[in-house]
Amino acid sequence: MVRTSRIAGFYKLDADARLRFVAEQAGLTEDEVNALRGGGMDLPTATRMIENVIGIFPMPLGIAVNFLINGVDYLIPMVVEEPSVVAAASNAARMARERGGVQALSGDQLMIGQVQLVDVKKPATARMEILKNRDEILRIANERDPVLVGLGGGAKDLEVREISTPAGTMLITHLIVDVKDAMGANAVNTMCEAVAPTLARIAGGRFRLRILSNLADRRIVRAWTRVSPESLGGSEVVRGIYEAYAFAKADPYRAATHNKGIMNGIDAVAIATGNDWRAIEAGAHSYASRYGRYEPLTTWEVGPDGDLYGSIELPLAVGIVGGATRTNPLARICLKILGVKTARELAEVMASVGLIQNLAALRALADEGIQAGHMSLHAKNIAVMAGAEGEEIDLVAEEMVREKMVRVDKAKEILARLRGGKT
Ligand code: MEV
Repeated sequence: MVRTSRIAGFYKLDADARLRFVAEQAGLTEDEVNALRGGGMDLPTATRMIENVIGIFPMPLGIAVNFLINGVDYLIPMVVEEPSVVAAASNAARMARERGGVQALSGDQLMIGQVQLVDVKKPATARMEILKNRDEILRIANERDPVLVGLGGGAKDLEVREISTPAGTMLITHLIVDVKDAMGANAVNTMCEAVAPTLARIAGGRFRLRILSNLADRRIVRAWTRVSPESLGGSEVVRGIYEAYAFAKADPYRAATHNKGIMNGIDAVAIATGNDWRAIEAGAHSYASRYGRYEPLTTWEVGPDGDLYGSIELPLAVGIVGGATRTNPLARICLKILGVKTARELAEVMASVGLIQNLAALRALADEGIQAGHMSLHAKNIAVMAGAEGEEIDLVAEEMVREKMVRVDKAKEILARLRGGKT
């Protein structure tokens, strides 16, 4: 566990000093530090992960600081290509910290596997027959994963749904599997394949698809926070954040962007920890539409005390064992930096990051606008493009931001001035 994540001026250190600090806090070995410096993955490892490998594609790994979740300090590894995401999360986490940070809660790690049965002549009766044989079906499923069962997980229950489709009535069996600390796709899919022939025989039909559902609504995580108007920049900003939320609640066009901002944080942690972010995205957006209309995944309200109260609720199918969480050496190191001990804890951290990322975006949008934050890093890139080197980069970037003109021609002009002034 890290001693603290409240680090003033972390962003001002150079990358190596930041790495040293994180290494000390998280107890990283010299090999782990070198792996982070060197990009971490070799070609043979990559070749074992996917097909037709021709190289390794690097992404920046940053650390968001100031996170206090359920009273515990976390350093949050984030892999993301977009400027401002890590800085915004760190800033908003500092604001939320003043009132105790974020609280988060999750339950059993239940995944749903689906088996599709077609050509069932008496679907309602077949449904009863399948439910009657519940124990036998669960036994067949659990035979496939004694390790998971030994850990207290495994197939726990069945649901059978009759659905009408363009191709006629189908009987869909849901296998509810406690996957413990895994994401669970492999375990669930294997179990679905194992029980499908028995289900088809009992129902008197044919099985087709046997695959997990990414609408993992038995694996919901919730997080909530409270922030003072003082830390946000005043009651007008609080009002602006509330109105921004209300806009998303009423308008799917805005809700999509609102939720995209949430996923900026959640996906970045998912990638850093080797988790399947497409599965997370699919789950989040389908859950956001569960009432038949696309809605924001967070809520914000202003209390009678003037404080801003926020919460998030979404499914998170994430693991800390198996898959890329193990094969990708950097994912293992990121999990060590995070210090999470269970998939539940990882999900709670990720939901908290999503909530805080949303707070950061809404605060910026309701106040100075989103471009100001984006501009400072962008300006540095433009300065480099204009030929700035070393200390010149920051000086040129700062001047462009001050003059609100972030363009290569402007950077060249400032650079010429700077160099002219020096000689
Ligand atoms: C940009 O990546 C994310 C935002 O658009 C989110 C939002 O609008 O809430 C800033």
